This record gives sequence, C-alpha cells and structure tokens, in this order.
Amino acid sequence: MFAPYFFFLLILAYLYPAEAHPRPRIPPNKVKTHSHSRRLQPAEISAPSLAPNLTAQLSSLPFDLGPSLPPARNTSLTQLSREEIPSRCLAFFNAPGSTSATTECVDTPEANGTLQLTAWDVTYEDCGALQPWRICHCGQAEMSLDTAIDRLARVPVGLRRFVGLVMVQPLNPLGDDPSDNTPRAYTELESGEIHFFGDAQVDTWVHESSHAFDFSNYSSPISNSTGWQSAIAADTCTTDTYAQSNRIEDFAQMTVTLVYALLHSNHTPPGLTVSCMQNQFDFVQGLAAYAPEMLFGNTCDLGDEDGEGNGARHTEAPATLDATRTFSIVPLDPSSTAIKTEERARNGERGNQSRFSWAMYSIGLLLLYVGN
Ligand SMILES: *[C@@H]1O[C@H](CO)[C@@H](O)[C@H](O)[C@H]1NC(C)=O
Ligand SMILES: *[C@@H]1O[C@H](CO)[C@@H](O)[C@H](O)[C@H]1NC(C)=O
Ligand SMILES: *[C@@H]1O[C@H](CO)[C@@H](O)[C@H](O)[C@H]1NC(C)=O
Ligand SMILES: *[C@@H]1O[C@H](CO)[C@@H](O)[C@H](O)[C@H]1NC(C)=O
Ligand SMILES: *[C@@H]1O[C@H](CO)[C@@H](O)[C@H](O)[C@H]1NC(C)=O
Ligand SMILES: *[C@@H]1O[C@H](CO)[C@@H](O)[C@H](O)[C@H]1NC(C)=O
Repeated sequence: MFAPYFFFLLILAYLYPAEAHPRPRIPPNKVKTHSHSRRLQPAEISAPSLAPNLTAQLSSLPFDLGPSLPPARNTSLTQLSREEIPSRCLAFFNAPGSTSATTECVDTPEANGTLQLTAWDVTYEDCGALQPWRICHCGQAEMSLDTAIDRLARVPVGLRRFVGLVMVQPLNPLGDDPSDNTPRAYTELESGEIHFFGDAQVDTWVHESSHAFDFSNYSSPISNSTGWQSAIAADTCTTDTYAQSNRIEDFAQMTVTLVYALLHSNHTPPGLTVSCMQNQFDFVQGLAAYAPEMLFGNTCDLGDEDGEGNGARHTEAPATLDATRTFSIVPLDPSSTAIKTEERARNGERGNQSRFSWAMYSIGLLLLYVGN
C-alpha cells in the first residue's frame, strides 16, 4: 500500500508570507522541532545526507516565485460528484476523533451532511484538455480552492504536466496541535500525488512538482542518475539547508533555483553564488525538460513522449492556446533583442513573438557570459 519510503516531506521555513511584504521566517530551530510523525509517518527515501560534503549557502531559499509567474487566464473547473471523489482522497479523510495515521482532513459534524472534502477537475489554457488536473480540497484548508488553482497554474507547464492528484489540506486537521503552523507538502513519488498543508507558496508547488518530474520514470529517478551524483561529487556547496537533506531534495531545490534564474535573466537568487554548485546547476539546466521553451512553452503538448518527458501525466493542450500568457522576465541588455536566433518556441501560436520568446534568446546569451 503506502510504503513509507514513497513519501517525502517538505517542511517549509516560511510562515504565511504576504506578497507585498518581506516574508516572515521561522528560525531554523523552530522548523527542526516541527514533527508530523504521528500523522503522516513520512520517511525520507533512503539517500544519504549531503551535509558532510556540501555546505549550504542559505538556511532557506529567500524568494517567492509566485509573482514572477503568470496566473491562468482561462480555467475550466468541474466539480466531481460525491461518488466520484477519488478513493485516494477519501483515504486521508476521516471522521472526527479518528486516530488514523492518515487523517489529513476531517468530516466535521457542523458540515450537516455536506462533505468537507470536495474534488475538482481543472483545465488550464495551456494543458489538461484530455487529462485535467484533479484537486481534492478539504473545507478546513487554509488555502482556498481558488488559490490552489492559481498556484498550480503558476507552476511552469513543463513541470506541471508531471503532477498527479493534488490534495489541499489544513495544517492541523484534528485541531490538537496549535504549533502545527508551518505550511508544508509532500509528494508520493511513484504517482506524482502531492499533498499540501496550509498556505504553501508557489515555491513549494514548484519544488514538489519537480519531485513528480524527477520520479516520473520511477525505476530511474533523475536524482539517482550518475550525472546528478557526479555533479554533487564535483561541487562544494548547494543552495540551502533543505537541499542538504539528500540528492532528491537537492535536485528539487536546484530546480526552484533554476526557475528563479530563468525568470530573472539568469540572475541567481539573492545570497546565492553558482560557482561552488556549478556542476549541479549545469546539470539541471541541461535537462531537456528544463529548456525554457519546454518549461514555459505555454503548452504541455511538447511532443517529447519518446524522450525525457516520458512519464508526463498531462500532455494534451486545449485546441486554442492563450498566446497572451507570457512570463515576466526582467529584461536584459536591450541590444540582445537585436540578436537573430532560430525560433524555438513550440507553443503552437508561432505567429506571436511574445516578450517571453525574445527573453529566451537573452537567457541563452547571458548563459554564455555566466559560463565564462
Ligand atoms: C561524500 O564524499 C565522500 C568522499 O569523496 C564520498 O565517499 C561520499 O560518497 C560522499 N557522500 C555523498 C552523499 O555523496
Ligand atoms: C476558454 O477555454 C474554453 C475551454 O478550453 C474554450 O472553449 C474557450 O474558447 C476559452 N476562452 C477564451 C477566451 O480563450
Ligand atoms: C448545520 O445545521 C445547523 C442547524 O440547522 C446550522 O445552524 C448550521 O449553520 C449548519 N452548518 C452548516 C455548515 O451548514
Ligand atoms: C525508465 O528507466 C529505465 C532504466 O533507465 C529504462 O530502461 C526505461 O526505458 C525507462 N522508461 C521510460 C518509459 O522511459
Ligand atoms: C539508484 O541507483 C542504484 C544503482 O546505481 C540502484 O541500486 C538503486 O536502486 C537506485 N535507487 C532508486 C531509488 O532508484
Ligand atoms: C501578441 O501578444 C500580445 C500580448 O502579449 C498582443 O498584444 C499582440 O496583439 C499579439 N500579436 C499577435 C500578432 O497576435
């Protein structure tokens, strides 16, 4: 059934960040004392800690990808009937007082026969035509359904297409642990099923989505490849304390860092230098699935089913793509717009050279500089 090593827990060092304000942070010692073992029983997949070999540059990643990623413009949402609620969601939904280890959402008596748990199919303008994302939302969850739909939309489609079932759960379903206040999430690695707790920000969604991608060929995870392990062995640092956990978390945090860099004209996040983690950064950047036109191509119909993208769970885009959905990239040297580069966008709306397209060329250029 749920072999514990399939589970994976991310404890975030962020507490209810407000977009307009600096994000309040929980001191690292607080995070470490935070335990969910009674309920979730998550266990790290068995991979050794990287802490002896790689120093952490930061205690946590100090940015929010959310505002840099565009919201969905045209979302189609369908509520599933009570009978259609996935059994996987019901498995984490229990009566009040249940001592089940898997209680993540509680059917409270106040609900008067209306389930706290609802399930939804969502299609975005760039993906989900035949395989919508399915989201189970617990009525007690701090994150509203609308917010969850928005955050999932902001996960670049090249990663989002690997995400399986999504569950949005409250921080503290049994109401018995007031210290249970750190938004967090975990991914069931084999199915790409992601459980969010509390108001988990877009960084967390990207982090978990990259686990789904990493393990999309479950018998051959990318983070277990010799290429990734050699990159780790050749470097002296990583991004942050969480990345030090093991090569899987390191891969996810490096993915978040790469997405930041791609969206910010290849500027690394504040406080991070690439040189001591150059091999890891180059590895993730070299993945075909992480090429900007794959990540941000505005469609999940990427035609790469024979390659690395094999294992994507959503591959059909709606017939009409929204070409106006662009990714905000901090512009570089304006002269780079004059560079003629082969058209690489694959979003099916080739006529429109959006801001993103030329920005992709700029990234390519800047990478040459950074590589020197
Ligand atoms: C850390 O480095 C040592 C020595 O090079 C190596 O034997 C070990 O496998 C490394 N650990 C990890 C987790 O990579
Ligand atoms: C929104 O999406 C629906 C279904 O995918 C489509 O039929 C409709 O034309 C779209 N509307 C716009 C304005 O793009
Ligand atoms: C449940 O029923 C009671 C009594 O009819 C009512 O006061 C309460 O608002 C209802 N709660 C919900 C969630 O509908
Ligand atoms: C998954 O990885 C294994 C081992 O590398 C490989 O043999 C297999 O072809 C891969 N499966 C897919 C669907 O790519
Ligand atoms: C990682 O690769 C090794 C061989 O290099 C293999 O023995 C091990 O089972 C793999 N682990 C996972 C989780 O795939
Ligand atoms: C391209 O998209 C922009 C919005 O990003 C829009 O204003 C413009 O009209 C579009 N151009 C074409 C040729 O469709």
